[in-house]
Amino acid sequence: MNHDTERALDKAAAILAGARSVIAFTGAGISAESGVPTFRGAGGIWERYDERHLELGYFRAHPELAWPTIRDIFYAFASPDGERPPFQPNDAHRVLAAWEQQGILNFTVTQNIDGLHAAAGSRRLSEFHGTTATLSCMRCGARVPSARELLETLPPRCPCGGIYKPDFTFFGEGIDPAASSSAYDAARKADVCLVIGSTGLVYPAATIPRVVAGGGGTVIEVNPEPSTFTDDITGVFLPMGASEALVALDRRLRGTATP
Ligand code: APR
Repeated sequence: MNHDTERALDKAAAILAGARSVIAFTGAGISAESGVPTFRGAGGIWERYDERHLELGYFRAHPELAWPTIRDIFYAFASPDGERPPFQPNDAHRVLAAWEQQGILNFTVTQNIDGLHAAAGSRRLSEFHGTTATLSCMRCGARVPSARELLETLPPRCPCGGIYKPDFTFFGEGIDPAASSSAYDAARKADVCLVIGSTGLVYPAATIPRVVAGGGGTVIEVNPEPSTFTDDITGVFLPMGASEALVALDRRLRGTATP
């Protein structure tokens, strides 16, 4: 690791240690090392799938056309050939959950719908774009876990005959009010925002770090590539992968940084 990155890690760790209230804002990049494909960038989901199938109006009109795309992208473990087991949290998710336990991190706002922050143990969490973990019936509202057997026949149907919709936010769909209010409440209280693995291209989610910066707070960003935040609101840029950066910051905060 080069000298500049080491210095940036030292600076970021000092900011985190002296902070009054820290929030994390995460995007697809934090889950990339768990094998979850990102949406943009080389090999991204939107290079391979039709975004239209994730538009609310299209899904309601053509669930039988949209659901095969949705299963392939988000529930491949449920596909007939069962190509992979469900994803698992990585070190970055685990460090954030540990920091919440230790009082270093007040809250996490994630754009991700993979459920990996909750699986790692984060509880003070806003899943701003909802989750793939459950489905809701569009007729009676019944909510069920996204179980493998339920997704073997598409579109999946509720016993009432209604069709299930995943509990994540589709394009053209409003943000869940509870997820939104908890995220903005935490952002308004924060003096540090740790942005991990997001292009910052999707709104209103991308306003969360900007609320912290607008309130005079400091933005620390972890991303191998610059994002729309980097030259705009980022105070300390860590050009690294999420796991490597979070483990290195955790070592510094525990005073065990390797010389
Ligand atoms: N560690 C950290 N960041 C990474 C890593 C990694 N190992 N690998 C890639 N990244 C970064 C990329 O450089 C990029 O900036 O993760 C980001 C992924 O960008 P997007 O795929 O656009 O993800 P995100 O910003 O979360 O997308 C926002 O778009 O389609 C919608 O609802 C969807 O929540 C999603 C939203």
